[in-house]
Amino acid sequence: MTTPMPDNPIFAVAARAEALRAQGADVITLAAGEPQAATSAVVVEAAVDAVRDPAAHHYGTAQGDPALRALVATAVAADTLLPWSVDDVQITLGAKHALFLAVQALIDDGGDEVLVASPGWPGHAEVVTAAGGRAVPVATDEEFRLSAEALDRCRTPRTRALILSSPGNPTGAVHPESRLRQIADWAERHGIWVVSDDIYRAFDYTGTYRSILRVAPQLRGRTVVVGGVSKEHAMTGWRIGWLAAPPETIASARLHVSRTITHVPTVSQRAALAALGDTGTPTGAARDYRRRRALLVEALNGIDGISCPLPDGGMFAFPDVSGLLRDRGWTSSADLAAWLLDTAHLAVVPGEAFQAPGRIRLCFAVDDHTLLSAIDRLKTSLGGAPANAAYEADAPTPEEAR
Ligand SMILES: Cc1ncc(COP(=O)(O)O)c(C=O)c1O
Repeated sequence: MTTPMPDNPIFAVAARAEALRAQGADVITLAAGEPQAATSAVVVEAAVDAVRDPAAHHYGTAQGDPALRALVATAVAADTLLPWSVDDVQITLGAKHALFLAVQALIDDGGDEVLVASPGWPGHAEVVTAAGGRAVPVATDEEFRLSAEALDRCRTPRTRALILSSPGNPTGAVHPESRLRQIADWAERHGIWVVSDDIYRAFDYTGTYRSILRVAPQLRGRTVVVGGVSKEHAMTGWRIGWLAAPPETIASARLHVSRTITHVPTVSQRAALAALGDTGTPTGAARDYRRRRALLVEALNGIDGISCPLPDGGMFAFPDVSGLLRDRGWTSSADLAAWLLDTAHLAVVPGEAFQAPGRIRLCFAVDDHTLLSAIDRLKTSLGGAPANAAYEADAPTPEEAR
């Protein structure tokens, strides 16, 4: 038996918020890493049809429904400008499972290393550990981007792969073409695989998202493209993702799926099939998120001690709150997050979850009412004029709460 891994800290915040809610508190959450919207009706209808179809009640193929794989292949071809076929795609239980399968295919034993961005999404390091590898954090630059220099400082003879996520979580950083080319050259020079986690590709507010394979097609033989419907289609609970990769990686992933879960549930695959035919949902979501991103970032920058860059992509604001921590005498952003939750009933994720102690993460993939109420609570509790009077804070001061 191996030692159990600590659970993802983001889930810990969600659990604490849920406990407060159970006690009757009106908790607003910007902590979740998922769109608040319901899955679109067209997807739900397709799933209902699948539930009623006896063909969906029995075993399917380990690699996934060929019709879904064909749509994924077309989507990946559009992003990479390279040809992909149904054989090049494995359907998985969400993008995280795809990341795990990619890493377990690429590493040989417990000493093999995979580079992950820091700050970055803890799931990247978690899947490496779960696959038996060693996750090595690589410091990003002041714009939260990876560079060939920083990657090379962390490279050892055991380095097998790099997980690249652009747009990223929690930073929203999008790696421009020039940076992708530099990273690709470095990977090619040192024979390192790239796992390109493109889960936030649709939330690109500056039009700068590019698949690394579009910029560096010569990496095709050592790149795994990971995607899914979770974020673009508000389908986190349906658990559908995929990887598109060279044949030996797909063969390894298919074997692992076959030996562990047999295949991904057919009803969810049918739902994802409908989602991939619905281009309106991601486009509409990106339009709404762009507007909400501006509202939230402006509000955060209006609070003394907070400085928030405008993220180029993704679903999160990731402000520097170190000035506020200093002013209030808090030692970490976990103190701030706990205070906001307990006194303003507003859930955010402390930066410690992403190896960024002076920051917090706030999700703007929520509806307007939720976002405006959250902004009011931030302003009421931390300073600045409230946008409306919907929330009457009778919260203790930070000093009283400590
Ligand atoms: C960067 C990144 N990749 C992958 C995932 C996981 O996606 P899924 O829910 O499809 O497993 C997340 C979820 O937060 C994420 O932020």
